[in-house]
Amino acid sequence: GRVVVLMGGHSSERNVSLESGRNVLEALKSRGVDAEGFDPAERSLGELEASKFDRAFIALHGRYGEDGTLQGVLEMIGLPYTGSGVLASALAIDKIATKQMWQAGRLPTPPWEVLLGPHQLVGLAERLGLPLIIKPPHEGSTLGLTRVDSLDRLPAAYERAAAIDAPVLAERFIQGRELTVAVLGNSAAARALPVVEIRAPGGNYDYRNKYFTDDTRYLCPAPLVPNLAADIATLAEAAYRAVGCEGWGRVDIMLDDASQRAWLLEVNTSPGMTSHSLVPIAARAAGISYEDLVLGLTAQASL
Ligand code: DAL
Ligand code: MG
Repeated sequence: GRVVVLMGGHSSERNVSLESGRNVLEALKSRGVDAEGFDPAERSLGELEASKFDRAFIALHGRYGEDGTLQGVLEMIGLPYTGSGVLASALAIDKIATKQMWQAGRLPTPPWEVLLGPHQLVGLAERLGLPLIIKPPHEGSTLGLTRVDSLDRLPAAYERAAAIDAPVLAERFIQGRELTVAVLGNSAAARALPVVEIRAPGGNYDYRNKYFTDDTRYLCPAPLVPNLAADIATLAEAAYRAVGCEGWGRVDIMLDDASQRAWLLEVNTSPGMTSHSLVPIAARAAGISYEDLVLGLTAQASL
């Protein structure tokens, strides 16, 4: 059947999505699939419905693509799509809702507070400790995120996040190793791929070090003692299931240097598929090529 790759879109991660989509499209075409790209920012969703595709690969990131809104449209027009459904997408885009789901499931996530206004900055550093992370809860690719090391930096960090989103999420900073785990499949059958460790210049895995440098190193499988690697994989699967993810996702984790505990940060339901992205790295370590990953996800597209 005909596959549409949804890419681009209206979010602040538009450029990342265009690159993800270009790679996905190329992979499908290289395997002889009749596929074309569709950018919801340039064409109407009415055209999408009228084009009578058989399935959709969602390569959109962030709002109006990863957040459940588009998934709702696809449900309504009856076009099977890759990845999570409406509810899990909406929960996962919201880092506050995600943390609530994990806490309800007794899964570890760093201590946090919701900031409804600047008055809530009073005493925050005493309660969460420094450094702390201030972030807009619905963004991806670390956009709008600030690590706050000293109290005088807190108001500016808050304003930066509040300009993007309300409320704002404050979270304890975990000093440790940055890990991510791709998970494939649905509910009980969901399985983690090998753990990836990210070593970014200066320990700063920001937008630039995600997409524009070749200095960030990715180790997969991450060099962890076997028991720890297995525990982290199990934790990632539990985190994915707790949010109700389907198809695929990527769970971001910090491994605390001091306690060797793993803390859940977020789950991405439409992970990057660029040449620098993490799920393809994990798939390759499991013997799954980029093309096979894309074909497998497309084959599982559902309503
Ligand atoms: N938000 C980016 C695309 C990712 O999680 O890979
Ligand atoms: Mg994210």
